[in-house]
Amino acid sequence: MEAIVDHVVAHLATALERESFKPLGMATGRTMEPFYKALIQRLASWPTPRLEQLKRRWLSFNLDEYVGLPPGDSRSFAAYMQTQLGCHLNLPSCQLQLPDGTARDPAEEARRYGSALHKAGGIGLQLLGLGGNGHVGFNEPPSPAGSRCRVVTLQQATRNQNAGAFGGNPDKVPEQAITLGLDEILAADEIHLIVTGAAKAEILRQALVDPCRDDVPASWLQRHSNVHLWVDDAACAHLPLLS
Ligand code: GLP
Repeated sequence: MEAIVDHVVAHLATALERESFKPLGMATGRTMEPFYKALIQRLASWPTPRLEQLKRRWLSFNLDEYVGLPPGDSRSFAAYMQTQLGCHLNLPSCQLQLPDGTARDPAEEARRYGSALHKAGGIGLQLLGLGGNGHVGFNEPPSPAGSRCRVVTLQQATRNQNAGAFGGNPDKVPEQAITLGLDEILAADEIHLIVTGAAKAEILRQALVDPCRDDVPASWLQRHSNVHLWVDDAACAHLPLLS
Protein backbone atom coordinates (compact mmCIF):
# COMPACT_ATOMS: atom_id res chain seq x y z
CA MET A 1 0.00 0.00 0.00
CA GLU A 2 2.84 2.38 0.85
CA ALA A 3 4.30 1.85 -2.61
CA ILE A 4 0.96 2.69 -4.24
CA VAL A 5 0.66 5.85 -2.17
CA ASP A 6 4.18 6.96 -3.14
CA HIS A 7 3.58 6.40 -6.85
CA VAL A 8 0.22 8.16 -6.97
CA VAL A 9 1.47 11.10 -4.95
CA ALA A 10 4.45 11.40 -7.29
CA HIS A 11 1.99 11.68 -10.21
CA LEU A 12 0.00 14.30 -8.32
CA ALA A 13 3.13 16.28 -7.53
CA THR A 14 4.17 16.18 -11.19
CA ALA A 15 0.74 17.46 -12.21
CA LEU A 16 1.00 20.25 -9.63
CA GLU A 17 4.45 21.26 -10.86
CA ARG A 18 3.21 21.94 -14.40
CA GLU A 19 3.32 25.57 -15.49
CA SER A 20 -0.38 25.70 -16.14
CA PHE A 21 -2.18 22.88 -14.43
CA LYS A 22 -5.78 22.03 -15.13
CA PRO A 23 -8.13 21.54 -12.17
CA LEU A 24 -7.52 18.38 -10.18
CA GLY A 25 -10.36 15.89 -9.80
CA MET A 26 -10.69 14.90 -6.14
CA ALA A 27 -12.38 11.87 -4.64
CA THR A 28 -13.51 11.04 -1.13
CA GLY A 29 -13.80 7.74 0.73
CA ARG A 30 -11.57 5.82 3.10
CA THR A 31 -9.32 4.65 0.27
CA MET A 32 -8.21 8.21 -0.44
CA GLU A 33 -7.20 9.23 3.07
CA PRO A 34 -3.57 7.97 3.00
CA PHE A 35 -3.07 9.71 -0.34
CA TYR A 36 -4.07 13.12 0.98
CA LYS A 37 -1.88 12.60 4.04
CA ALA A 38 1.11 11.69 1.89
CA LEU A 39 0.46 14.57 -0.49
CA ILE A 40 0.53 17.05 2.39
CA GLN A 41 3.79 15.53 3.64
CA ARG A 42 5.36 15.74 0.21
CA LEU A 43 4.28 19.34 -0.33
CA ALA A 44 5.75 20.25 3.07
CA SER A 45 9.19 19.54 1.59
CA TRP A 46 8.67 22.07 -1.23
CA PRO A 47 10.47 25.40 -0.90
CA THR A 48 8.13 27.99 0.62
CA PRO A 49 7.80 30.27 -2.45
CA ARG A 50 6.89 27.29 -4.64
CA LEU A 51 4.37 26.04 -2.12
CA GLU A 52 2.84 29.50 -1.74
CA GLN A 53 2.53 29.78 -5.51
CA LEU A 54 0.81 26.40 -5.63
CA LYS A 55 -1.65 27.41 -2.91
CA ARG A 56 -2.50 30.58 -4.82
CA ARG A 57 -3.35 28.73 -7.99
CA TRP A 58 -4.80 25.52 -6.54
CA LEU A 59 -8.15 24.57 -8.04
CA SER A 60 -9.84 21.22 -7.60
CA PHE A 61 -13.29 19.86 -8.28
CA ASN A 62 -14.65 17.01 -6.20
CA LEU A 63 -16.70 14.28 -7.74
CA ASP A 64 -19.73 14.48 -5.54
CA GLU A 65 -21.64 15.69 -2.49
CA TYR A 66 -24.64 14.48 -0.53
CA VAL A 67 -27.87 16.39 -1.08
CA GLY A 68 -28.94 18.06 2.15
CA LEU A 69 -25.61 18.25 3.97
CA PRO A 70 -24.03 21.71 4.45
CA PRO A 71 -20.22 22.08 4.35
CA GLY A 72 -20.27 22.60 8.12
CA ASP A 73 -21.67 19.09 8.65
CA SER A 74 -18.75 16.81 9.48
CA ARG A 75 -20.31 14.04 7.39
CA SER A 76 -20.34 16.11 4.19
CA PHE A 77 -17.68 15.60 1.55
CA ALA A 78 -16.93 19.33 1.81
CA ALA A 79 -15.96 18.78 5.46
CA TYR A 80 -13.97 15.69 4.47
CA MET A 81 -11.94 17.74 1.99
CA GLN A 82 -11.30 20.50 4.49
CA THR A 83 -10.15 17.96 7.11
CA GLN A 84 -8.03 15.89 4.72
CA LEU A 85 -6.53 18.70 2.65
CA GLY A 86 -7.89 22.23 2.94
CA CYS A 87 -6.97 23.00 6.53
CA HIS A 88 -3.44 21.60 6.11
CA LEU A 89 -2.74 23.67 3.01
CA ASN A 90 -4.76 26.70 4.11
CA LEU A 91 -6.94 26.49 1.03
CA PRO A 92 -10.16 28.49 1.04
CA SER A 93 -13.24 26.54 0.07
CA CYS A 94 -13.53 28.43 -3.23
CA GLN A 95 -10.35 26.64 -4.37
CA LEU A 96 -11.71 23.25 -3.29
CA GLN A 97 -14.89 23.10 -5.32
CA LEU A 98 -17.74 20.71 -4.52
CA PRO A 99 -21.40 20.71 -5.44
CA ASP A 100 -23.50 22.63 -2.90
CA GLY A 101 -25.49 19.97 -1.07
CA THR A 102 -27.84 22.57 0.37
CA ALA A 103 -28.82 24.26 -2.89
CA ARG A 104 -32.57 24.86 -2.99
CA ASP A 105 -32.76 23.29 -6.46
CA PRO A 106 -30.26 20.38 -6.56
CA ALA A 107 -30.85 19.72 -10.28
CA GLU A 108 -30.00 23.33 -11.09
CA GLU A 109 -26.94 23.10 -8.79
CA ALA A 110 -25.78 20.01 -10.69
CA ARG A 111 -26.02 21.94 -13.97
CA ARG A 112 -24.16 24.89 -12.44
CA TYR A 113 -21.39 22.66 -11.09
CA GLY A 114 -20.95 20.81 -14.38
CA SER A 115 -20.77 24.09 -16.25
CA ALA A 116 -18.31 25.60 -13.71
CA LEU A 117 -16.02 22.63 -14.30
CA HIS A 118 -16.36 23.02 -18.06
CA LYS A 119 -15.53 26.76 -17.84
CA ALA A 120 -12.46 25.95 -15.70
CA GLY A 121 -11.16 23.75 -18.54
CA GLY A 122 -12.20 20.29 -17.30
CA ILE A 123 -10.17 17.91 -15.17
CA GLY A 124 -6.46 17.31 -15.66
CA LEU A 125 -5.67 14.50 -13.22
CA GLN A 126 -8.63 12.63 -11.74
CA LEU A 127 -8.34 10.53 -8.57
CA LEU A 128 -10.97 7.84 -8.53
CA GLY A 129 -12.13 5.20 -6.08
CA LEU A 130 -14.51 2.34 -6.77
CA GLY A 131 -17.81 1.68 -5.05
CA GLY A 132 -18.67 -1.88 -4.09
CA ASN A 133 -21.49 -1.84 -6.67
CA GLY A 134 -19.23 -0.54 -9.45
CA HIS A 135 -19.98 3.16 -9.01
CA VAL A 136 -17.44 5.88 -9.64
CA GLY A 137 -18.20 9.19 -8.01
CA PHE A 138 -21.83 8.51 -7.25
CA ASN A 139 -22.67 7.22 -10.72
CA GLU A 140 -24.84 4.38 -9.53
CA PRO A 141 -25.73 1.45 -11.76
CA PRO A 142 -27.13 1.87 -14.34
CA SER A 143 -25.15 4.88 -15.59
CA PRO A 144 -24.43 5.39 -19.29
CA ALA A 145 -21.07 6.66 -20.54
CA GLY A 146 -22.68 9.93 -21.61
CA SER A 147 -24.18 10.76 -18.20
CA ARG A 148 -23.51 14.33 -17.07
CA CYS A 149 -23.40 16.05 -13.70
CA ARG A 150 -26.76 15.36 -12.08
CA VAL A 151 -28.76 14.41 -9.02
CA VAL A 152 -28.79 10.68 -8.31
CA THR A 153 -30.61 8.42 -5.89
CA LEU A 154 -28.19 6.31 -3.89
CA GLN A 155 -28.64 2.57 -3.85
CA GLN A 156 -29.14 0.78 -0.56
CA ALA A 157 -25.76 -0.94 -1.07
CA THR A 158 -24.05 2.45 -1.28
CA ARG A 159 -25.85 3.78 1.78
CA ASN A 160 -24.75 0.63 3.65
CA GLN A 161 -21.17 1.05 2.43
CA ASN A 162 -21.00 4.67 3.55
CA ALA A 163 -22.89 4.26 6.83
CA GLY A 164 -19.65 4.42 8.84
CA ALA A 165 -19.61 8.21 8.67
CA PHE A 166 -23.22 8.27 9.86
CA GLY A 167 -22.79 6.39 13.12
CA GLY A 168 -23.14 3.06 11.32
CA ASN A 169 -26.78 3.74 10.43
CA PRO A 170 -27.50 3.46 6.67
CA ASP A 171 -30.85 5.21 7.16
CA LYS A 172 -28.98 8.36 8.17
CA VAL A 173 -27.06 8.40 4.87
CA PRO A 174 -28.78 10.92 2.56
CA GLU A 175 -30.90 9.36 -0.14
CA GLN A 176 -29.58 11.59 -2.89
CA ALA A 177 -26.33 13.09 -4.07
CA ILE A 178 -25.01 15.35 -6.82
CA THR A 179 -22.27 13.71 -8.86
CA LEU A 180 -20.16 14.52 -11.86
CA GLY A 181 -21.20 12.15 -14.63
CA LEU A 182 -19.12 9.69 -16.58
CA ASP A 183 -18.98 12.20 -19.39
CA GLU A 184 -17.05 14.68 -17.23
CA ILE A 185 -14.91 11.95 -15.62
CA LEU A 186 -13.96 10.41 -18.96
CA ALA A 187 -12.99 13.87 -20.25
CA ALA A 188 -10.12 14.03 -17.71
CA ASP A 189 -6.62 13.93 -19.21
CA GLU A 190 -5.50 11.14 -16.90
CA ILE A 191 -7.37 8.99 -14.42
CA HIS A 192 -5.89 7.20 -11.42
CA LEU A 193 -8.21 4.43 -10.25
CA ILE A 194 -7.27 3.23 -6.78
CA VAL A 195 -8.83 0.04 -5.48
CA THR A 196 -7.91 -1.86 -2.34
CA GLY A 197 -9.28 -4.82 -0.44
CA ALA A 198 -10.73 -8.22 -1.31
CA ALA A 199 -14.30 -6.93 -1.12
CA LYS A 200 -13.79 -5.05 -4.40
CA ALA A 201 -11.91 -7.79 -6.30
CA GLU A 202 -14.91 -9.16 -8.18
CA ILE A 203 -16.45 -5.80 -9.11
CA LEU A 204 -13.01 -4.63 -10.28
CA ARG A 205 -12.77 -7.71 -12.51
CA GLN A 206 -16.19 -6.98 -13.97
CA ALA A 207 -15.20 -3.35 -14.55
CA LEU A 208 -11.94 -4.14 -16.32
CA VAL A 209 -12.45 -7.52 -17.98
CA ASP A 210 -16.12 -7.80 -18.93
CA PRO A 211 -17.61 -5.72 -21.75
CA CYS A 212 -18.56 -2.13 -20.81
CA ARG A 213 -22.10 -1.80 -19.56
CA ASP A 214 -24.29 0.68 -17.72
CA ASP A 215 -24.76 -1.78 -14.85
CA VAL A 216 -21.06 -1.51 -13.98
CA PRO A 217 -20.45 2.23 -14.38
CA ALA A 218 -16.69 1.87 -13.74
CA SER A 219 -16.47 -0.36 -16.83
CA TRP A 220 -16.73 2.78 -19.01
CA LEU A 221 -13.19 3.57 -17.91
CA GLN A 222 -12.11 0.97 -20.50
CA ARG A 223 -12.92 3.66 -23.08
CA HIS A 224 -10.32 6.05 -21.65
CA SER A 225 -6.83 5.95 -23.10
CA ASN A 226 -4.94 7.07 -20.00
CA VAL A 227 -6.17 5.19 -16.93
CA HIS A 228 -3.61 4.21 -14.29
CA LEU A 229 -4.76 1.33 -12.13
CA TRP A 230 -3.43 1.12 -8.56
CA VAL A 231 -4.39 -2.01 -6.65
CA ASP A 232 -3.24 -4.05 -3.72
CA ASP A 233 -2.90 -7.85 -3.94
CA ALA A 234 -6.35 -8.46 -2.50
CA ALA A 235 -8.17 -6.20 -4.96
CA CYS A 236 -6.49 -7.65 -8.05
CA ALA A 237 -6.98 -11.29 -7.05
CA HIS A 238 -9.65 -11.83 -9.75
CA LEU A 239 -7.81 -10.09 -12.58
CA PRO A 240 -6.50 -12.76 -14.96
CA LEU A 241 -3.48 -10.81 -16.15
CA LEU A 242 -2.29 -9.52 -12.81
CA SER A 243 -2.84 -12.31 -10.31
C1 GLP B 1 -18.07 6.70 -2.15
C2 GLP B 1 -17.69 7.88 -3.08
C3 GLP B 1 -16.76 7.41 -4.13
C4 GLP B 1 -15.71 6.54 -3.47
C5 GLP B 1 -16.33 5.22 -3.11
C6 GLP B 1 -15.41 4.28 -2.34
O1 GLP B 1 -19.39 6.48 -2.09
N1 GLP B 1 -18.79 8.57 -3.69
O2 GLP B 1 -16.18 8.54 -4.77
O3 GLP B 1 -14.68 6.29 -4.35
O4 GLP B 1 -17.56 5.41 -2.50
O5 GLP B 1 -15.33 4.59 -0.98
P1 GLP B 1 -14.30 3.86 0.00
O6 GLP B 1 -12.95 4.30 -0.42
O7 GLP B 1 -14.67 4.37 1.36
O8 GLP B 1 -14.48 2.40 -0.17
